[in-house]
Amino acid sequence: MRHDRRQDEDLPDFLHNSPFFLPPEDFASSYPKDIPQPRPTFRQLLRSKQARYAIFVAGFLITVLFLRHQTRGKHVLSRLTGSIPSCYFNPPVIPDEYEIYVTQDVDWAQYAYALYATNTEYLCSAVMLAESLYRSGSQAERLLMYPNTYSLQDTSGSVETRLLLKAQDEYHVKLVPVKIQHENTAYYYGPNWADSYTKLLAFNQTQYSRLIVLDSDSTILAPMDELFFLPQAVAVMPKAYWLPDPRLSSHIMVLTPSPESFKLVEKAIKKARYGVYDMEIMNSLFGSLEPCITLPHRIYALLTGEYRSGNHDPFLENVKGGGSEDWNPDLVINDAKFIHFSDHPLGKPWEVNEADTWKVAPKCRQITGWEEECRTRDIWLDLYTDFWVRRKRVCGSV
Ligand SMILES: *[C@@H]1O[C@H](CO)[C@@H](O)[C@H](O)[C@H]1NC(C)=O
Repeated sequence: MRHDRRQDEDLPDFLHNSPFFLPPEDFASSYPKDIPQPRPTFRQLLRSKQARYAIFVAGFLITVLFLRHQTRGKHVLSRLTGSIPSCYFNPPVIPDEYEIYVTQDVDWAQYAYALYATNTEYLCSAVMLAESLYRSGSQAERLLMYPNTYSLQDTSGSVETRLLLKAQDEYHVKLVPVKIQHENTAYYYGPNWADSYTKLLAFNQTQYSRLIVLDSDSTILAPMDELFFLPQAVAVMPKAYWLPDPRLSSHIMVLTPSPESFKLVEKAIKKARYGVYDMEIMNSLFGSLEPCITLPHRIYALLTGEYRSGNHDPFLENVKGGGSEDWNPDLVINDAKFIHFSDHPLGKPWEVNEADTWKVAPKCRQITGWEEECRTRDIWLDLYTDFWVRRKRVCGSV
C-alpha cells in the first residue's frame, strides 16, 4: 500500500482523493488495459477542450448575429464615436423681441412657419396651428406642405379639400403640394415616422430665407416670430432634454433653406434604413455644424409628458449637488410658447377621449390631510381639452 502511504505522508489533507493528484507511475502501469473505458458522460464531454472551444465560438457568433439584428441600420459605431451633436452643448439663445419689432424694418415675406401634413389627422392639426398663428397676430407667412394626391377642386367634396381651402382662404396659408417622402424600409415605428421625412422638404423652400418648421401634433401658445432673427445657422433645434443621450430634437426647427442643404438631406433620405428618421438625419447632418446654437427648450420644446413625469431635473436642468429649482407647473406653462403632445403610452390627442386622459392624468399633491394641490394635473388636462375644442371649431367633423 505504497500509494496510500504516500497519500497519508506526503500530501496535505485537501489533496486526498483529489483529481489533481496524479497516481504514481507503477499504479498507472499496473492498471489493467483490457477493462473497457466507461463512456464519457455528457458533463465530461462538455468539459473537454474541443467542446468548450466549440461552445465559445457558437456563443460568440450568436451574440454577433443578435447585436447585428438589434442594431440594424442604426449606425451604432458612428453613434458611439463621432455622432454626438456638438451643437447640443452650445448655449441656447433667446432673441430680443423688442429690438426686432421696434428697431428693424422687417421684410416678413422672407419668413414663414412651415407646417406639413401626411394624412387627414395631421392635416387638421396643421390647419389648427395655422389658425393659432393667424389669430395670435404672427407677422410671418404660413406654409403648408401637403400630399400632392389631395385635390384643391372644391367639387371633390373631400375632408382634405375642405381643410386645405379653409387654410388658404381663412388663415392665409400658402399651399405647397409635395410628393410624400415615404421610405418603405423605415416602416418599423409606423407610417408617421417614415412620413416625417416630408418635413425635411422645407429645405427646398428656398424662396424663404428662414423657416420655423413645426410638427403639427402640438399647440402654439404664443407666436414665435423672434426665432427668425436668431444668429445665422443652417439648423437650430432644441435639446431632446427627455432623452438620456445628448440629441437634438426635430419637432421644432429653425432652418435656413438652401439648394446645398437640400441636396445633403435628399441623399440622406435615400440612404435611410431601419431606425433612421428625420431626427437622426438632422442630428447627423447638422447637429455638429458650426456655427450653431440651441433653442431654449423651456420656451419652445416643452412636452406634455413633462407634466406626468416623476423627475423634472432634466427639464429644469438641475444638476446633482447644484442649486436645484423646484417644479412649478404655472411658471412652466407661462414660459412655454410651443408644446408638443407626447404622453407615451397615451396616443395622439385626436385618438383619445376624456376618459383616457383621466386614467393617466398626473396625481394631485397632498399638502395636508385635507388640502390638495392639483395645478400639474389641471394644466395637463386643460391642454387636451383645449385641443379637442379647437379641433372641433377649426376642422369640424373629421
Ligand atoms: C424642390 O423644389 C423645386 C422647385 O420648386 C421642385 O421642382 C422640386 O420638385 C422640389 N423637390 C422635391 C423633392 O420636392
